[in-house]
Amino acid sequence: MAFYITTPIYYVNDEPHIGHAYTTIIADIFSRYHRLFGEDSFLLTGTDEHGQKVQAAAKARDLDPQTHVDQMVVRFQDAWRELEIQNDIFMRTTEPFHYSVVQQCLQELYDRDEIYLHEYEGWYSVSEEIFYTDKDLVDGKSPTGKVVQRVVEKNYFFRMSKYQQRLIDYINANPSFLQPDGKRSEILGFLRQPLNDLCISRPVARLNWGIPLPFDDQYVTYVWFDALINYVSAIGYRQGPEREAEFNKWWPAAVHLIGKDILTTHAVYWPTMLMALGIALPKAVFAHGWWLNSTGEKMSKSEGTVIKPAEVVQKIGVEQFRYFLAREIVFGNDAKFSYDGLVQRLNAELANNLGNLLSRSIQLVTKNFAGEVPALSATPAPESVALSAQIGATATIVRREIVALSPSTAIGAVIELLSATNRYFDSQAPWKAVKEDPSRAAECLYTVLDVLRAAATMLSPVMPNKCAAIRSRLGLEPIGSWEDASRSGMMRGGSTLVFGEPVFPRLEVAKVG
Ligand code: MSP
Repeated sequence: MAFYITTPIYYVNDEPHIGHAYTTIIADIFSRYHRLFGEDSFLLTGTDEHGQKVQAAAKARDLDPQTHVDQMVVRFQDAWRELEIQNDIFMRTTEPFHYSVVQQCLQELYDRDEIYLHEYEGWYSVSEEIFYTDKDLVDGKSPTGKVVQRVVEKNYFFRMSKYQQRLIDYINANPSFLQPDGKRSEILGFLRQPLNDLCISRPVARLNWGIPLPFDDQYVTYVWFDALINYVSAIGYRQGPEREAEFNKWWPAAVHLIGKDILTTHAVYWPTMLMALGIALPKAVFAHGWWLNSTGEKMSKSEGTVIKPAEVVQKIGVEQFRYFLAREIVFGNDAKFSYDGLVQRLNAELANNLGNLLSRSIQLVTKNFAGEVPALSATPAPESVALSAQIGATATIVRREIVALSPSTAIGAVIELLSATNRYFDSQAPWKAVKEDPSRAAECLYTVLDVLRAAATMLSPVMPNKCAAIRSRLGLEPIGSWEDASRSGMMRGGSTLVFGEPVFPRLEVAKVG
């Protein structure tokens, strides 16, 4: 099985913030889970480097645009390295191979009369790089409140309207294509109005930082038309027979992860472009919600309410940050970012539920069993059997929820398992039992350590290094297999545990917030 997942390619001018980090971390988590399940996985992220804003920013810095983007892109690359993103490609739209693919697509569509020249009058939003008609405007601004300017010009158009019915039929026939469900209804609602053709060019006079149209050098390609094609150019589309197998292996993508702000481009422009090019549609487009600031507003650069990932990481640790982002939001919904919420969640679930259980059980084994894992009991008590059985049941839920694109629920299932284990640990009270009935204490400790072993693997795509550290404490090799995570009784009696500092130190609001 091949699993191809993409993040949006981010505007290279922007500074990486928590929203970008969110999509990218979740995509990385999905990719790592699929690999753990034994599949081949390919994760694409990258930067969108053409367009008016980039041209203007380069000019303001007195640099040519390529030098400007070469400098800016490093911030994203560094940020993703710091957040432990294992991307298989970092796609840049200024790569020569991408340039060539976009031009080939344009030429083919032009030759087939899917693209035509037309004089056009409309409203243009520079910040969104989108054209609007009179009826699109709300109080003289774009539907999202951006300033627009009146523009009359000749441009090239893609016959998007021609594909309207086919797209509606496709969405209806493939309910998992647009997710979550609310987004499917939103797009179907949008498609009840007649769909316009899509303007895919910009006159060189206004914008020259883009890919020239191969059939008219007075124009460059509209940035979205250029950017969306990255999802196929990255994996070898139209790059000769040597890369054909690669393309066929990964395409159609399993999922394009996006924020809800760019749903129309991914759910309408991109599928109709693919239809015109005769390429299969991605299996799913999932639009997630927004991270808002602690008072529930959109983070704003000008008001200084944007949260920078590096800041949070420095306070709480990189893998705790990955965990929090994936766990806190029911995937698809909006959420407020607050340090209070973060500290509460991490202390309850990582420091207490997981970390404390690990320390306490290792400590008891160290003290009472010379640090050696007790052997698996031949006649375990029903409570121990029941808890052990929960390992396999949990792994099944985790896998199902990850496949269903629901990371928070998947993690929640592991937390449930750990809560049940804590209840079992408390009711068995091995610290007391060890005096009266050492074999019962041994059985309890074995069972708890065995859950921790499996849980560490189940959470490893979220927190790779922390989970490897937990496994090392348990005397295991740092990386476990999914098969191993799905079974109980895999802890080896007699292996030596390592007692050490807490893997997840408790956080204090006063220090973090
Ligand atoms: N360049 C386009 C995408 C082209 S894809 C072919 C673009 N770039 S962007 O830099 O503006 O990134 C937008 C994406 O960043 C959103 O779709 C979302 O994935 C992420 N987020 C940005 N802010 C966000 C929040 N506050 N919360 C969650 N994610 C958000 O659009």
